[in-house]
Amino acid sequence: MADKPQSSALQKADTPEYVPDPGAAVVPANPVQNPGMPPERPRVTDLDPKWEKQAERRVAMFFMLSIVGSIAAVVFYVMFPIIPGNMPSVRLNNMLVGLGLTVALLGVGFGAVHWAKSLMHGHELVEERHTTRGDEETRQVAAETFTQANHESGFTRRSMIRNTLFGALLAAPIPAVVLLRDLAPSKDPVALLRQTMWEPGLRLTRDPSGVPIKASEVTIGSAFHVIPEGLPDLTYHKIEEKAKAAVLLMRLPAEDLNEDPEKAGWSYEGIVAYSKICTHVGCPVALYEQHTHHLLCPCHQSSFDVKEHCKVIFGPAARPLPQLPITVDEEGYLIAQSDFPEPIGPSFWEREL
Ligand code: FES
Repeated sequence: MADKPQSSALQKADTPEYVPDPGAAVVPANPVQNPGMPPERPRVTDLDPKWEKQAERRVAMFFMLSIVGSIAAVVFYVMFPIIPGNMPSVRLNNMLVGLGLTVALLGVGFGAVHWAKSLMHGHELVEERHTTRGDEETRQVAAETFTQANHESGFTRRSMIRNTLFGALLAAPIPAVVLLRDLAPSKDPVALLRQTMWEPGLRLTRDPSGVPIKASEVTIGSAFHVIPEGLPDLTYHKIEEKAKAAVLLMRLPAEDLNEDPEKAGWSYEGIVAYSKICTHVGCPVALYEQHTHHLLCPCHQSSFDVKEHCKVIFGPAARPLPQLPITVDEEGYLIAQSDFPEPIGPSFWEREL
C-alpha cells in the first residue's frame, strides 16, 4: 500500500525552522513515519444486497429482543412478586427480573455493535490534532462527516433499524419505573405515622428502664426522656415503635404555660409531654433549656417554645412538636389520654395537616 501523503500541518511542522505554538499540538522533532493502514477489505454486506438485507434484519431482531426483555422484566416483576419474609420468592423475583433486564441491555448492545460491524463503513479515518475550537473549515468538515456518517450508517434511510432502536431505547427504562416503585413506603405513611404505641391509660415510663413516672417526681425545671409502658418488652419492631413514640416530659410553673383553651386539659399541673421527634427531618430533640423553657434540636438548631405549645421560634422546622395529652391514674402515675392527635415527625406529601 502506498504511504499516505503528509498533511500540510505536518509538512510545515517537519522543518528545522518550525516553532510550535504553545498550547497547540505536540509535534516531535523526528516523527515516526506513519506506517499507514492496511487496505480496506469489502465485507459481504458491502458486496451483496441480499447479505446486507439479512444483516439489517439481524440488527432489528436484536433491538426487538431488547424490547421483549424490557417487557418481560415488568411481567416477571408482577407475576412473581416478593413475599415479605419469603427468601425463595426474593431469589426468584430477582433472577427473573435480572434476566429480563439482561436481555434488554444486551439486545441494544449487540444490535448496535452488529450494526456498526456489518453495515456501517469500516474504513480508517485520520484525525489531525487541532486546538479546541476548530476553524470554520474544520467545522464544515465535521458537519460533512456527520452527514457522511448518517449516509453510510443509513440512520435515516434504514427506517426499520432506526425505529426498532428507538423502540428498544424507549422500552429500556420501563423496568426502572416499576423497580423504583419499591422505594415508596409499603404502607400508607399517614396511618404509619399517625399511629404510635400511645393509647388511653398507658403509663409514661423512663427511657430506657421502663419505670413508670409519678407526677410528684416531676419537679419544676426537670425533663424526662419517656417511652410508653411495655415498650422494652416488645420482641419485634421495638426500635420503630420507639422512634415514633419517644416523648419529652417537663414541668413548668403553671402560670408560665400559655395554653390554648382547646388544649388546656392536655397537661397536668404544669407537666407537659411533647414528641421528641423533630418536625424538621426527625432528629431527636434532646436539649431542654429550663430557664427559657426552650427545646433545641441539635441537628439544625430548630428551637421550640414549650410555653407556647412548642411552637417553632427558630430554625428550619415548619411545625410545632406534637403534644401528647396526659393525666394521672388513681395511683398518681402519669398516663396518656390518647395517642398523639396528629402524625409525629417531619412533614410528608400525604400529610393533611
Ligand atoms: S432535624 Fe431538627 S432541626 Fe433539623
